[in-house]
Amino acid sequence: MPKIAKILLVLVLLLIIGAAFVITWRIYFPQKEEQGKTSQILPQIKTNRQSEDNFKFAVCGDPHSNWTVYQKVLKSAEQKGIKFLVNLGDLTRVGAGSEYYEGKKIMAEFDYPIYLLMGGHDLVGQGEKWYHKYFGEDYGSFNQGKAHFIFLNNADQKLGIPQEQLKWLDSDLAQNDLPLVFVFLHQPIGFPYASPKTVGYLTTQSQESAQDLIGILKRYPVKTVFAGHLHTYLPYEFEGISVIITGGAGGPLYQVPFLEETPFHYVLVNVEGEQFDSEMVEIK
Ligand SMILES: [Fe+2]
Repeated sequence: MPKIAKILLVLVLLLIIGAAFVITWRIYFPQKEEQGKTSQILPQIKTNRQSEDNFKFAVCGDPHSNWTVYQKVLKSAEQKGIKFLVNLGDLTRVGAGSEYYEGKKIMAEFDYPIYLLMGGHDLVGQGEKWYHKYFGEDYGSFNQGKAHFIFLNNADQKLGIPQEQLKWLDSDLAQNDLPLVFVFLHQPIGFPYASPKTVGYLTTQSQESAQDLIGILKRYPVKTVFAGHLHTYLPYEFEGISVIITGGAGGPLYQVPFLEETPFHYVLVNVEGEQFDSEMVEIK
């Protein structure tokens, strides 16, 4: 083969490889900006005490990119007339940009705000970067009616909750004067059947920060803590704090020892003034 033909062949091959690389990159790491309405965590901090006191909200967790079930959850919650929905994390399986993009696209189809926490799976690879790109801040609070809502990021099982966030939580709770306080986490606190198999391998640091968190929560009138991570439904009491685990929005359901397997589901909370009740809503 003449030398010029060889050079041309190499150039064509390089071009093909380059094009394949760019296409693959665009598929896995879409650069498009958000579509439609945003469903960012904490799009605004509401302090308007005149807002309506009677409302419903939904809580779900752990879709793990199972968009079929997740869409059913969002649709069902919409039909219940909710004011907003909280997703307790693990939106994705491996924290990929394409998963975040798809999840956000689905969430943007709904008219109500959706607040997304970060979960352990969402941290994989460049996950944290994609989370911030598509959903913004990873902790904060807002008021609705007579209730104060707090979102935290305790997704990392090795680090637990950073001290900076705990400090913020303490001052946030100190400033709050509303009677109802709901806290949202990814990792549950005081899970009664805790074992490495169910909650994962925690470090001394994450266990200490969990103790610090519990200490702060106990000093204030926190009514209920919602947590995901475990793909089941389980309400329990821990040191005077009511905890509800809900992780049934699409990820593989698993059997927690001693407990019955629960179906795909979310939790619907009905707030009336200073009173509230909650129920598990099954998804078929
Ligand atoms: Fe999960």
